[in-house]
Amino acid sequence: MKLNIALLAGDGIGPEISIQGRAALEAIATKFHHKIDFREALVGAAAIDATGEPFPAATLEICQAADAVLFSAVGDPKYDNDPTAKVRPEQGLLAMRKQLGLYANIRPVQTFQSLLHLSPLREELVRDADFVCIRELTGGMYFGEKHEGTEEAWDTNKYTRPEVERILRVGYQYARMRRKHLTVVDKANVLASSRLWRSVAQEMMNEYPDVQTDFMYVDNAAMRMIQEPRFFDVMVTENTFGDILTDEGSCISGSMGLLPSASTGTGTPVFEPIHGSWPQAKGKNIANPLAQILSVAMLLEHFGLAEEGALVRRAVAASLEANVRTPEIQVPNGAHYGTREVGEWIAQWIAAH
Ligand code: IPM
Ligand code: MG
Repeated sequence: MKLNIALLAGDGIGPEISIQGRAALEAIATKFHHKIDFREALVGAAAIDATGEPFPAATLEICQAADAVLFSAVGDPKYDNDPTAKVRPEQGLLAMRKQLGLYANIRPVQTFQSLLHLSPLREELVRDADFVCIRELTGGMYFGEKHEGTEEAWDTNKYTRPEVERILRVGYQYARMRRKHLTVVDKANVLASSRLWRSVAQEMMNEYPDVQTDFMYVDNAAMRMIQEPRFFDVMVTENTFGDILTDEGSCISGSMGLLPSASTGTGTPVFEPIHGSWPQAKGKNIANPLAQILSVAMLLEHFGLAEEGALVRRAVAASLEANVRTPEIQVPNGAHYGTREVGEWIAQWIAAH
């Protein structure tokens, strides 16, 4: 297969993990005789510094011309504490999602046998937890009408029926590929937008009689995720709730640095870690590259390259079992491996298996 990949490394630890994602993809390409071409493009604070825009037109063009985007992270503290900043790195990510029509964000929450003890939750609760959060990505408060005054400010949580329907369909498709259990997470006891979600879902559930559909308020879902994470198979929810719940979900597996995601829709799909740019770790060679490398597995699987994706996943599991781990998940007195060493170990493992 021939694939053109746009590499958007972004800010903070982004460039360091991007290199390791690319290395894993190159190792796969060599082994399976795929031809993968890479083009780098600017996004986030890196793009603001160079061009004044967080998602320049040149980057959009490179993304549109690519088969997939391998994205890393955006965000820089120099913008975080300045409420008056006119442009922010995060706008680059949001612009990319909107302009590529990426309405479905697929965030799997999985555990790793060798890391169960690192979860802040008890091992017996998280063992075998395995669910997918389908987060709506181009609607809701993130993109609704806004007003930002000094005395008054608001964000509008608007959803249309077609927006709700298409994301619920993605949820049902995933449920059908998995354990056939879909939980629609909303706040229908308070929010009008949530009541639209719920009524559309209630109509659609009849089309999927093989899937068990249930409804849960978001506050309750947040609690259930840590009380009984195994309850969930596929959850589908709006943009803001999905943002919050997936950070919570990442704790289940023990480190933010482990979870990948895929964003799909009408344009070029994007594969990215769910974590942020961790500016404090920039250049220190300590960031975990696994979420990025697992994003590569999702990318390969998206193009039907199941064997290739599985090999990447096996390489990641092997690195964990061999204690080739970045500091935040290393065993006591374990050897020191940085971002680079973990990434290189995985690329070599792929080449050798
Ligand atoms: C995420 C991030 C982004 C979001 C930020 C960086 C804009 O938190 O991908 O979850 O809120 O969507
Ligand atoms: Mg988030």
